[in-house]
Amino acid sequence: MNQSKFDVLILGAGAAGLMAAIEAGRRGRRVAVLERAERPGKKILISGGGRCNFTNLYTRPDHFLSANPHFAKSALARYTPADFIRLVERHGIAYHEKTLGQLFCDGSAQQVVDLLMRECLDTGVRVFLATAVGEVRRDDSSGAFTLVAGTDAFTASALVVASGGLSIPKMGATGFGYDVAQRFGIPHEPCRPALVPLTLSGEAHTSFHDLAGISAPVIASCGKRSFREKMLFTHRGLSGPAILQISSYWSRGDSIRIDWSPEKPVLTPLREPNARRDLLTLKTTLRAQLPVRLADRLVDVAAPRSWTNHDLDELERRLHCWTFMPSGTEGYEKAEVTAGGVSTDALSAQTMECRSVRGLYFIGEVVDVTGHLGGFNFQWAWASGAAAGRAV
Ligand code: FDA
Repeated sequence: MNQSKFDVLILGAGAAGLMAAIEAGRRGRRVAVLERAERPGKKILISGGGRCNFTNLYTRPDHFLSANPHFAKSALARYTPADFIRLVERHGIAYHEKTLGQLFCDGSAQQVVDLLMRECLDTGVRVFLATAVGEVRRDDSSGAFTLVAGTDAFTASALVVASGGLSIPKMGATGFGYDVAQRFGIPHEPCRPALVPLTLSGEAHTSFHDLAGISAPVIASCGKRSFREKMLFTHRGLSGPAILQISSYWSRGDSIRIDWSPEKPVLTPLREPNARRDLLTLKTTLRAQLPVRLADRLVDVAAPRSWTNHDLDELERRLHCWTFMPSGTEGYEKAEVTAGGVSTDALSAQTMECRSVRGLYFIGEVVDVTGHLGGFNFQWAWASGAAAGRAV
């Protein structure tokens, strides 16, 4: 077996792992990053439709889900969007704000991967590609970690697990990081697909599946959470930013509420003196606010029994609180991230080091911190990576 020694081993050359490597490399640590894939940052490359939504200007802790909502605060405060933007600008990467503080490359996501790899090179970090770690060992007396990848063994006193979550298995996502946590007795929160389209079945599917491709600006709510963004019908159910966002808060058995006309009454024209009250007028009124086929379908499904003020009130209420009962999600195949993961109770919020295993760190998506849509997940990867990289 070929043995190599380093100060720090990082498992995974994704956003979090590369950031941790750079920060540790800057401090003069001898760092090895081990990556199963034949190229680094594969998820960065497919992110943001190929343009990488690399951060969000309005990053705040309430844009993240976790069993402990306070956990992410420290790391997010110590590595901010401005820090990453400075890096992007130093590398001459042009970018723009698309909407709601979301920053994208003008060119391609490859520029972000190139930036990270350039920084690794400049700080002396060694990145081993096509190196799948199959086993993690720890020497009881020295506390040193050894990662075994084929016939190679890498040893260091610090191990940073940055192996990502379960989403997009066809890109090679596995639960390896959770297995490592389990092997060292680190608890983890149950995982579930998040930022994921929802599926409909039965009557709801029959009534709406042929509207696939139609979208509308809505407020989507589940429990106490609401998102005002676009919703999209798909052949299997519901998607679009509003649904992806709310999916992170959805559990089986929950209903999703849709306001088709956010903060604006819909039926005012039918209430005017001498206004006609019939199906055609109702459809015309809705068509002024929504795509024609959607407006007509909502009327077909929810036509009032009569045209009394009471029934109009009832319909108005329903149009602001339309209920879908999703049958499920499209699963990890379509989920942008994995919610849940390594329990934050087990980690230091300052360094991401395990409280019970000295020298073992978890960062990025493998940890139970999940961002909203819009660049927050990469900001968590940068921030948690920097926190660990400055501590190892
Ligand atoms: P990540 O999954 O990126 O990296 C983990 C690495 O570990 C992988 O390269 C994997 O191969 C490697 N690995 C795993 N097991 C291993 C083993 N045993 N041995 C060696 N290597 C191993 N977020 C955002 O903020 N803005 C956006 O625009 C998007 N867009 C987007 C689009 C799509 C389609 C998806 C699926 C996801 C996004 N995201 C996003 C989410 C974002 O991509 C995600 O949160 C980060 O990539 C997580 O970074 P990590 O470094 O934690 O894991």
